[in-house]
Amino acid sequence: MLLRKDINTIVIAGAGLMGSSMAQIFAQYGYKVILFDIFEEAIEKGKDLIAINQKASIEEGNITEEQSKQIINNISFSTQVGCFSNADYVIEAIVEKLSVKKKFWEEVSAIAPEDSVLTTNTSGLSITKIAESVKNPERFAGMHWVNPPHIVPLVEVISGDKTVQEAVEIARDLAISIHKKPVIVKKDVNGFILNRLQYAVLREALYIAENGIADLEDVDNVMKYGLGMRYACIGPFETVDLGGLDTFYNVGSYLFADLSNQKEVPDLLKKRYEEKAYGTKTGKGFYDYSNGRGEKVIEKRDKDFIKIAKCLYSDL
Ligand SMILES: NC(=O)c1ccc[n+]([C@@H]2O[C@H](COP(=O)([O-])OP(=O)(O)OC[C@H]3O[C@@H](n4cnc5c(N)ncnc54)[C@H](O)[C@@H]3O)[C@@H](O)[C@H]2O)c1
Repeated sequence: MLLRKDINTIVIAGAGLMGSSMAQIFAQYGYKVILFDIFEEAIEKGKDLIAINQKASIEEGNITEEQSKQIINNISFSTQVGCFSNADYVIEAIVEKLSVKKKFWEEVSAIAPEDSVLTTNTSGLSITKIAESVKNPERFAGMHWVNPPHIVPLVEVISGDKTVQEAVEIARDLAISIHKKPVIVKKDVNGFILNRLQYAVLREALYIAENGIADLEDVDNVMKYGLGMRYACIGPFETVDLGGLDTFYNVGSYLFADLSNQKEVPDLLKKRYEEKAYGTKTGKGFYDYSNGRGEKVIEKRDKDFIKIAKCLYSDL
């Protein structure tokens, strides 16, 4: 199957948190981006998000005002599904519901050019299951980004059961062309790589807090000032090589058996969820984000991420 490699126009579906941020990074590297949403209000919200992100990037010296204008110029907006007929490449970042994604792809894969590569930014739904509603599913793959995508380098490219290698390579090369760091997930497993690792850490963090071993702040501090700094530079296998496999074997022989292996969502998370304490988006989560604190926390996170990215990845 010969798929389109010459990519100029990228259509991104979903002008939310992820879609609007992805639009900026492609536009920054000269691609023409069409940001699609079914709701006019969502498009307006997307434009606001782009303006906030651009402001932070300019303030951190990541881009100039002139570059920002060019980035904005490269992005157009649409609520008309016909815009997919112009796509060389599609990324879907709409709501995380299998039924909604399947309905979307049934319609859009019939409109997009037959040789265009189609991808979904699902956090963990099965690529193979979504592909059931895609016309020519060989060209369909997962392309999982990390929030905020215009700053974080990682992109996971996931092969579904029917995805051809050519589609995976096109997705990987596209990520490289915008200076991202793609990895290939060879099997379509729940959570891919990032979320499997993230949820293993989250389960243990919740276990430590629930059992009164340490306060939430101190668990966060262990990640920020210890493991997080290490993992920004070296991965778990490199860590073991540098620390000594003998030592990690000896510790593992008593510690693995002691770690949480809980199969249900831990109570500490469940309780907050039931109280609708969703975090910054509702003003309360594990911590308090009322009275504008949430916006400040997000702004600080983005600026800190940009500093780290600049420090470690000069090509970003
Ligand atoms: N937020 C994250 O940290 C994160 C990280 C990685 C992956 N993801 C995944 O990315 C996707 C989007 O997440 P988000 O956080 O940007 O969500 P969001 O709620 O911010 O945005 C979703 C957007 O999709 C639009 N939409 C809904 N149905 C649509 C349809 N049928 N056609 C077109 N647009 C439609 C909504 O109007 C909204 O603007 C989800 O699949 C999510 O799991 C999110």
